[in-house]
Amino acid sequence: MAIIRPMRLSDLKAVVEIEESSFPRPWSLNAFITQLAKDTSLCLVAEVDERVVGYTIATQYVEVWHLLDLAVHEDCRRRYIATELLEQLFERCGREKHRGYTLEVRKSNRGAIKMYESFGFICTGLRKGYYSDNGEDALIMWKDSEDMLA
Ligand SMILES: CC(C)(COP(=O)(O)OP(=O)(O)OC[C@H]1O[C@@H](n2cnc3c(N)ncnc32)[C@H](O)[C@@H]1OP(=O)(O)O)[C@@H](O)C(=O)NCCC(=O)NCCS
Repeated sequence: MAIIRPMRLSDLKAVVEIEESSFPRPWSLNAFITQLAKDTSLCLVAEVDERVVGYTIATQYVEVWHLLDLAVHEDCRRRYIATELLEQLFERCGREKHRGYTLEVRKSNRGAIKMYESFGFICTGLRKGYYSDNGEDALIMWKDSEDMLA
């Protein structure tokens, strides 16, 4: 099992390495630093045997949590590390009043879409040609907050 904890500046070397091997248009180091400095953002890492193997970042804007980034080191995938990160994220985000969660995901990213659906996300729209590297469409996904479901 992974330990899920808040991201620190000292994690960023490992985080950027995972980011660069996971996405065709990776975030820069500065983009992570900006999120870490924002008090409206939540940045978590997953650690296994004292090694950072995954992370997720969400930011709150007008009572909605936007899931901005999520990745797991390719050697550690399909071990429910992303699942643990998301469970912790929802637990922590759920402590504050909000309407729900939203994210964008590549239409071709079937594995991630399946995972988000298992958490209750539904597809609510499409951004045509959203990804500039290959012009791929993004699915917009939404999940109601726990309060809205009560
Ligand atoms: C998407 C990603 C974060 C998933 O991380 P992970 O730790 O491997 O995911 P989990 O082990 O928690 O997967 C949970 C479930 O999601 C689904 N899933 C996850 N990855 C999948 C894949 N590649 N193919 C099919 N289903 C997948 C499965 O239902 C899985 O359960 P199962 O293994 O019992 O079938 C990881 O593949 C990754 O970093 N990809 C590159 C970056 C990325 O695409 N991030 C998401 C951007 S929106």
